[in-house]
Amino acid sequence: MGEENQNSITLKADGPMVCRGEITVVDAEGAVLLKDNEAWLCRCGQSKKMPFCDGSHRQADFHDSGEFEDERAEELGETHGPLQISVKPNAMLILKGPVTIQSADGRFRSQRSRGALCRCGHSNKKPFCDAGHKRCGFNVDD
Ligand code: FES
Repeated sequence: MGEENQNSITLKADGPMVCRGEITVVDAEGAVLLKDNEAWLCRCGQSKKMPFCDGSHRQADFHDSGEFEDERAEELGETHGPLQISVKPNAMLILKGPVTIQSADGRFRSQRSRGALCRCGHSNKKPFCDAGHKRCGFNVDD
């Protein structure tokens, strides 16, 4: 299979994560919010259209280069197949499925079959969740 069939999450500097592949975004009850081959998900915590990016990161004081370390990286090779992203209320995004996570310039890269990604903007281990949503009192979901 070609590169275009692989799941990827690309971290835009000071902006959203761009998810490509066989993507399904679901809410905490499992209801499908989006099923597509591309999804732009908020990383700054300020979107009015959570979990999707609405451009609010430009006004928000959000800074993240997209460079990262991954202590739980896996060697998956291929990353095709379903990738489900579950939105946890006032908390993280949960990944289930094979995916390559990468900085926009491709210099930082790791693979995962599961994980928790930050969407509040306050993790010290971006793009991964470190429970920063609790420290900052993240409150965006009704
Ligand atoms: S990253 Fe774009 S609105 Fe949060």
